[in-house]
Amino acid sequence: MVEEVNEFDFENRIVSNEYDDIQDGEVENCLRPKTLEEYIGQEKAKTNLKVYIESAKLRGEALDHVLLYGPPGLGKTTLSSIIANEMGVNIRTTSGPAIEKAGDLAAILTNLAPGDVLFIDEIHRLSRVAEEILYPAMEDYAIDIIIGKGPSARTIHMPIPKFTLIGATTRAGQLTTPLRDRFGVLLKLELYSPEELATIVKRSAKILEIAITEDGALAIASRSRGTPRIANRLLKRIRDFALVKGDGTITSEIANYALEALEIDELGLDNIDRRMLEAIIKYYGGGPVGIDTLAATIGEEAITIEDVYEPYLMQIGFLSRTPRGRCVTKLAYDHLDIPFVVGAGNASQVAGQRMMDLDN
Ligand code: ADE
Repeated sequence: MVEEVNEFDFENRIVSNEYDDIQDGEVENCLRPKTLEEYIGQEKAKTNLKVYIESAKLRGEALDHVLLYGPPGLGKTTLSSIIANEMGVNIRTTSGPAIEKAGDLAAILTNLAPGDVLFIDEIHRLSRVAEEILYPAMEDYAIDIIIGKGPSARTIHMPIPKFTLIGATTRAGQLTTPLRDRFGVLLKLELYSPEELATIVKRSAKILEIAITEDGALAIASRSRGTPRIANRLLKRIRDFALVKGDGTITSEIANYALEALEIDELGLDNIDRRMLEAIIKYYGGGPVGIDTLAATIGEEAITIEDVYEPYLMQIGFLSRTPRGRCVTKLAYDHLDIPFVVGAGNASQVAGQRMMDLDN
């Protein structure tokens, strides 16, 4: 049998936002800041959070429920541990898909201590029955448990400790309105600037005892797609090149050499990004193409394209979302060195470009 080779090798992607193995997970843990002071970037979220934490502590109450949303790899889990740490309470961590039965969630909720944080990752994937347990838990600090079956079934209203739910999601839009409305604090995490990422890279290098120059840190930062998880992963891979091909120090030369070997270009795009953009250009004249059609073309789930690949491509202005589908912009054509020709999909861009040319 011929083994099927998927030219879009998403699983082994170095700029993937997923944890790639247990070892990486462990290293990532030691790199995680423990306090808001240590946490770099997300200034807007941090400033407001400091006030809410301070106020809850002054009142001697649990912090209001917090919803963290934004693309993967930006530090939602880290931030929730920091919140628990700053509040001086325990954190219990679970995820939407891990809670299979309503009873699983009821067991977790009844075992919390007053003020504790319950962190639910991927909260948009919570089942409807689990979600219904959460409503009274979040609002009234009580759960309704049904005991028995049929006509003899009874509902017991059971109080639970006042706790803080921290929900994390890459897709706030998929949360039901009743659930979203029960969060008092909504915090959107943004992609990081290269300067912030360089600071994170230097901090991680210090913890991992890796020698790195200022330029080396910036070279990694500017190719990390605004994402600390990717920056830290690149740091570890480039350290290998520094040890084997250099004197152990990560300089910009070593970083650039390694990034070239890893096929990550000067904007942080890897060959999967490039092939995705090229597929839209080659098969759909630059777009618009519907997300499901695109997903089928490149053999990836629409959700992964939306959550993992698109945020950065849109941030750097290479991709636009229109009501009729995704379009590749002229900037991306230029980056890929593909001549920008007028087609059905990009006619409006050409008109826009002509206007800009006339303006200049
Ligand atoms: N490591 C990962 N994310 C971080 C952040 N925001 N600040 C400091 N270190 C980090």
